[in-house]
Amino acid sequence: MSSLRTPIRLSLGALLLLAAQSLLAGTITGSLHDFTSKNWSGGRICIACHVAHKSDTSVTDAPLWSHTNSTQTYTLYSSPTLNAGPLAQPSGLSKLCMSCHDGTVAVDSFGGMTGTTQISAVNNLGTSLADDHPIGFIYNTALATADGALFDPSTKAVTIGSGSQTKSGTIASLLLFNGKLECSSCHDVHNTFTVGTSHLVKLPEAGSQICLSCHNK
Ligand code: HEC
Ligand code: HEC
Ligand code: HEC
Ligand code: HEC
Repeated sequence: MSSLRTPIRLSLGALLLLAAQSLLAGTITGSLHDFTSKNWSGGRICIACHVAHKSDTSVTDAPLWSHTNSTQTYTLYSSPTLNAGPLAQPSGLSKLCMSCHDGTVAVDSFGGMTGTTQISAVNNLGTSLADDHPIGFIYNTALATADGALFDPSTKAVTIGSGSQTKSGTIASLLLFNGKLECSSCHDVHNTFTVGTSHLVKLPEAGSQICLSCHNK
């Protein structure tokens, strides 16, 4: 009896899980980056970060950027076992995140206006990146070889997102930007290709799958 029942229960469970995952397929609407309910947004989601015209091009590769950038110099991660680097000041996409997440520029400072809404303490990384996963460096086959316990980003297959919003590729094609590991390697700012309901992560935190996607531990 039980040998018959168990597989049935499992497949029902799997179906429920699939249903839940497709319901959770991400959108920016309703995420922590949806600013429509803020009185400063004029009911617009994208405006704190993007603008269609006269955008700020001072950060390399900035996508039609509207948020006031930070002018901070950061304390960088270092360790005797780090093979990457030497690490440089955040640039490109990670600099854009830090325009809100270092806590020195108000969330509602954009389009030339200076706002007053500060990011919450829990999401404020501050101006020291020494206590954060290293970012802003090239992750290639040579680094994987030098480290000895990293997957080769050009060949290691990964799948990001969940439900109807899923993409498959390699670490290099899906998680790196100009070959670099950035904040967006682990996070999706738009909540599109995320899994679960917290931290806007592209790969599952359960069992540290996110970490084991790159670290061959
Ligand atoms: C909290 C800031 C933030 C908000 C809000 C935001 N974006 Fe973005 N967006 C970014 C950042 C940062 C990037 C750089 C690429 C990345 O990190 O994924 C980006 C990249 C993009 C890109 C180019 C890359 C891609 O993903 O195709 C498009 C298009 C885009 N955003 C559209 C939008 C639209 C449309 C909205 C509103 C519905 C929006 N974004 C809201 C921060 C934001
Ligand atoms: C316009 C300001 C702004 C920008 C730019 C921005 N964020 Fe955020 N982010 C916020 C705010 C605001 C919150 C949540 C509310 C709070 O903490 O005040 C948040 C929350 C988060 C969270 C927490 C999600 C959770 O479920 O706990 C993550 C992760 C995050 N952001 C990552 C990023 C990354 C990565 C980038 C760049 C690609 C980025 N953010 C760019 C303003 C911003
Ligand atoms: C290697 C993967 C990875 C990188 C790179 C990364 N994060 Fe995260 N981040 C995570 C994970 C996983 C969490 C979930 C909480 C935890 O494990 O600390 C998280 C949590 C957060 C949170 C929520 C606050 C908290 O501590 O719970 C914010 C905000 C955030 N990250 C922003 C950023 C920004 C900005 C960058 C780039 C400077 C960045 N992250 C780079 C993996 C990463
Ligand atoms: C997108 C790929 C990727 C993801 C995801 C990722 N890492 Fe990393 N991580 C790297 C690379 C590449 C380095 C640089 C290794 C080096 O240079 O020695 C690194 C560095 C580190 C270091 C510092 C190593 C040192 O020698 O100082 C630690 C610790 C670490 N990661 C832990 C984690 C944990 C924990 C997670 C999950 C929350 C995670 N990583 C997720 C790619 C990743």
